[in-house]
Amino acid sequence: MSEPKISLQHVYKSFNGKEVLRDLSIDISPGESLVIVGGSGTGKSVTLKHIIGLLQPDRGHVVVDNTDLCCMHAVELNAFRRRFGMAFQEGALFDSMSVFENIAFPLRRHTKMSEDEIRQRVEECLEDVHLHGVEKRRPSELSGGMRRRVGFARAISLKPEILLFDEPTTGLDPVISDVVADLIVEMDEKLNTTTVTITHDMKVAFKIADRVAMLYRGEIIEEGTPEEFQRSENSIVQQFIEGRAQGPLTEE
Ligand SMILES: Nc1ncnc2c1ncn2[C@@H]1O[C@H](COP(=O)(O)OP(=O)(O)OP(=O)(O)O)[C@@H](O)[C@H]1O
Ligand SMILES: [Mg+2]
Repeated sequence: MSEPKISLQHVYKSFNGKEVLRDLSIDISPGESLVIVGGSGTGKSVTLKHIIGLLQPDRGHVVVDNTDLCCMHAVELNAFRRRFGMAFQEGALFDSMSVFENIAFPLRRHTKMSEDEIRQRVEECLEDVHLHGVEKRRPSELSGGMRRRVGFARAISLKPEILLFDEPTTGLDPVISDVVADLIVEMDEKLNTTTVTITHDMKVAFKIADRVAMLYRGEIIEEGTPEEFQRSENSIVQQFIEGRAQGPLTEE
């Protein structure tokens, strides 16, 4: 097996005495699409934030390309984050800026590209997410699905090696969710990225995952290909897949 692109090793994290991650370990291979599922408040977003070094583990290690993030200085960490494209919950677009300026933002900030180069790169990114003729619009003037696409276009502008999506389809209707899930599959393949997605929509998870992992009480309790995951004999996993109120899973 090749070296993992991302390796979480025995990660522990508490906030104000509350343990959120407890001995969490998982390896993600180069080019893999991993989906992490789990109930609300189980630490999914916290896990993603560890992967980009926005949070540090209390114990354990986060290793990306054989480099332990704990050993990086702020300057290194900033350069390191450029290798990631992130599309977090609800897109987090700047509403005071046009779509064009939103996508150009990371390019202006992190590169010395000329105006012409920026224009060309923004065009390419918009093409990659199948958006046309919306450059001058404000995010607030677009539909929810289109806003997600703009967020994705911004996430890929610096040609990242790793894409992270936190709840990319939350708040979208089932049809648009499916379209957005298709787009994630397409981007992952075309851009050849290692992709980590968080969702609690199992249909989306099974569509985009090479491997699904379920987070429960701070640990990965099940992982496998979508087929393996669906066949899991773990009653917590089965309850989550079926979305049943009755079972071992309760509100935390
Ligand atoms: N910076 C922080 N300071 C204090 N507590 C935090 C912080 N970040 C997360 N938490 C807590 O950690 C727990 C897990 O949060 P997290 O955002 O990872 O959940 P999640 O699995 O992403 O849930 P959701 O599905 O609702 O997005 C929650 O109890 C949350 O309140
Ligand atoms: Mg979250």
